[in-house]
Amino acid sequence: MDEPRFSTIIEPFRIHSVEPLRMTTRAERREHLRAASFNLFQLRAEHVLIDLLTDSGTGAMSRDQWAALQHGDESYAGSPSFYLFADAVRELFPFRHVIPVHQGRAAEKILFTALGGRGKVVPNNTHFDTTRANVEATGARAVDLVIAEGRDPASDHPFKGNMDLAALEQLLTASADDVPCVFVTITNNSGGGQPVSLENLRGVRALCDRFDKLLFLDACRFAENAWFIREREEGQGDREVADIVREVASLADGMTMSAKKDPMGNIGGWLAMNDDQLAEECRNMLILTEGFPTYGGLAGRDLEALAQGLKEVVQHDYLRYRIRSTAYLGEALQKRGIPVLSPFGGHAVYLDARALADHLDPLEYPGQSVAVALYEVGGIRSCEIGTVMFGRQPDGSEVPAAMDLVRLAIPRRTYTQSHIDYVIEVCEQVAARAHELPAYRIVEEPRMLRHFTARFEPVTG
Ligand code: F0G
Repeated sequence: MDEPRFSTIIEPFRIHSVEPLRMTTRAERREHLRAASFNLFQLRAEHVLIDLLTDSGTGAMSRDQWAALQHGDESYAGSPSFYLFADAVRELFPFRHVIPVHQGRAAEKILFTALGGRGKVVPNNTHFDTTRANVEATGARAVDLVIAEGRDPASDHPFKGNMDLAALEQLLTASADDVPCVFVTITNNSGGGQPVSLENLRGVRALCDRFDKLLFLDACRFAENAWFIREREEGQGDREVADIVREVASLADGMTMSAKKDPMGNIGGWLAMNDDQLAEECRNMLILTEGFPTYGGLAGRDLEALAQGLKEVVQHDYLRYRIRSTAYLGEALQKRGIPVLSPFGGHAVYLDARALADHLDPLEYPGQSVAVALYEVGGIRSCEIGTVMFGRQPDGSEVPAAMDLVRLAIPRRTYTQSHIDYVIEVCEQVAARAHELPAYRIVEEPRMLRHFTARFEPVTG
């Protein structure tokens, strides 16, 4: 008999312990905004109703992950928890060296300290902000080479995270000696959580082989990327996601990882690679900055929780729910005429703030303005990914980012469909009055990664 089919997206879990959400009034939220200098990173989380700032470290751990914590062994050196963790990583990413770190940017810092430096150039489809900052902090240049469709909010290309192979070839032909490694970010977070195809990765591999370059993955959302490959790439529809992940890994020489995303951790990360000499150099740096190589900035219990999370994230029921429920939010916004980046990303839906508040110039920060309004109207915290995040150049000048997006990131297994229905209503109310949103100006900013701490004020009158 045929399996009956239903359209309701059902969460493939039930709730085991709950956390309170706190309501605030609009007047209170206005006050909180002023106190935070209109920077949502500066809000106290208890003043936020639905927190879509990030999917990083904000997911709900499973019963089995909480149980795994009890199994943690806190030996300084040689903890069995490390070996369990390293085996779980290698089950999907069979690299020779697995080096735990406390989160993704620690892996970036260590790797680029070894590989970067003045005069070097690191290509990526799109660098995430901390990746870019860690490349630039060594004096190297970070170059984004995503395909043209990846910069077009309206393009419905199925793999908008793909690397522009012709541009990469050109860069390698012109300055191969300056390129220490090529990076591919899966999924392409700063470009809208968009996937990279197997075919494209094979193309990048071939170029790396031709020019004798290391290929590294920034693999935070590897399982979501593999699910998109399964869904969208020809000939992949019958494969196990874990199998696709292993093929993706086999194309690379190493990876940086934030385990706060797909591995379902609240903290953690790793650096992995095949090259013995590079691994040795990275381990020495790890001991200086993170800890001994069998814990690297994490507790044994954290390593155990990640080992379990890695098993859960590649399950098809989970990924089907994850990708469908993100699309549910995107489709609802689209149906209401709200401009969103499509196809929808894996971990987030991105509002096209430049289109929504098209009376504002990019240098008046339309993304910031929309994000502030979502909080003021409905207590929703989102994240500007646009000119505030990327506009300041290393030489001090300011230019508009390629896009001005507001990211509604969905923490894993945390919010239910009714929470998302509420988000949809709030977005609708903000969109209806988007043409009234004020411009913002920055009154104070740090030298790097300004979006975390910059102080803003609305431009009035
Ligand atoms: N690379 C990508 C693609 C990321 O999305 C992140 C983090 C990192 C590296 C750095 O990892 O935070 O563990 O140090 N992204 C989070 C976000 C913060 O909200 O997208 P981390």
